[in-house]
Amino acid sequence: MSTSGLDFSFFLLLLSKTPISPLLALLVVVLSFVFLSPGGLAWAFYRAIPGPPGFVRALSGTAAHRALAKLSRSFQAVDLMAFSVGFTRFIVASQPDTAKEILASPAFADRPIKESAYELLFHRAMGFAPFGEYWRNLRRISATHMFSPRRISASGEYRRLVGSNMVREVQDLMGKDGEVELKKVLHFGSLNNVMMSVFGKSFDFGKGEGLELEELVSEGYELLGMFNWSDHLPLFGLLDLQGVRRRCKKLVAKEMIFRGTDTVAILLEWIMARMVLHPDIQSKAQAEIAAVVGSSRLVTDSDIANLPYLQSIVKETLRVHPPGPLLSWARLAIHNVQVGDHFIPAGTTAMVNMWAITHDECIWSEPNEFKPERFMLEDISILGSDLRLAPFGSGRRVCPGKAMALATVHLWLAQLLQSFKWVPSEKEPDLSECLKMSLEMKNPLVCRAVPMY
Ligand code: HEM
Repeated sequence: MSTSGLDFSFFLLLLSKTPISPLLALLVVVLSFVFLSPGGLAWAFYRAIPGPPGFVRALSGTAAHRALAKLSRSFQAVDLMAFSVGFTRFIVASQPDTAKEILASPAFADRPIKESAYELLFHRAMGFAPFGEYWRNLRRISATHMFSPRRISASGEYRRLVGSNMVREVQDLMGKDGEVELKKVLHFGSLNNVMMSVFGKSFDFGKGEGLELEELVSEGYELLGMFNWSDHLPLFGLLDLQGVRRRCKKLVAKEMIFRGTDTVAILLEWIMARMVLHPDIQSKAQAEIAAVVGSSRLVTDSDIANLPYLQSIVKETLRVHPPGPLLSWARLAIHNVQVGDHFIPAGTTAMVNMWAITHDECIWSEPNEFKPERFMLEDISILGSDLRLAPFGSGRRVCPGKAMALATVHLWLAQLLQSFKWVPSEKEPDLSECLKMSLEMKNPLVCRAVPMY
């Protein structure tokens, strides 16, 4: 009876002395065994991996990455922690070696499917498609037609145009309101960029069809990012208590475009908040742009390779504010597998807490300080080979849009910094977080943009 790490003979003794029916006693023992096991209910019948008993509710909160990091530390389970959400078995790695083992293993090449993803037909999209021939074809086709270096460089001119439109939009908003809420401008620019790459169609900022499209995408993201108890407790699935299925059914009737619009915009919003908060870092980046590009022409894609400090700012923001702190989409074990010394049964959902890794002081000095200089001293790849900082994931299901995302973020950041000095409005930027599908700023950044020339 000690498999779960608890000595149940004590309970049996206690119950044998108490005047209750043997059936009730048995029930109490079984329930205690199930609920007090390390890792909770869903792990009750497997060999113990350290983790909290009972149900973990952290995933339904807006700071799941922080709550899981704290739990992993307190259960001394930073390398691997087990937990249960309803009947779903989870593991989470908060350390580079185990993270690498999970992400690189072919056993974890599948994704757990959420009800909202099914209802929005997302199991047909690359991000949620089951591992197999269909998914492999999508990856192959998109690698050639969307994400190849040739396609990324061919779309440079359109990217620059969208960036210039955003600069104009900022100017207009400053003229009208004397301050700018950047989130809307960045989201719309990003959405237009994806629409152009996929359909060759662009929209007007915040008007007509463009506005409607933006609202549809926002609602879709909200539904996909929502923690849905129906995914983990069958009874909730029947009742649809949170209304997720009902809302998805309504939304799926309209056309949908998602991936790649929110992460780029969200990352840029965090970067700009940091620029406003750290004027010294901002002016160092502006001096670098001025030295490389000058003031007589606009920055282009081909300048980015010569702007290492600007690239370090992007890396440091990906470290401090990773858009996918839990790597957005978890992995599902296709078959039984070993992670370190632990046996992981097929059907287990595996997560990597990238936020915990990028804030671990055994790995990063002064992890809570924003210091782009650290990347000028050590060149760390952020594309998935070094798990100390892998904001795009790693292995077979690594983000296929990473090169396109970085090209876009670097260029737009350079354009925004070349055109304006960014200063606080009445209030300083608030760095509070809110984890939805991605890690967003809880209070959107509102600031002032003063023209550079
Ligand atoms: C800063 C921007 C971005 C970040 C931080 C990011 C991050 C991620 C992460 C963490 C994953 C999961 C990787 C894993 O499981 O190992 C992912 C998957 C994915 N990303 Fe990105 N991403 C970004 C931009 C983009 C863009 C621009 C696109 C497309 C236009 C894109 C398309 C995808 C797709 C389709 C997947 C699913 C791949 C699969 O399951 O096979 N992402 N991304």
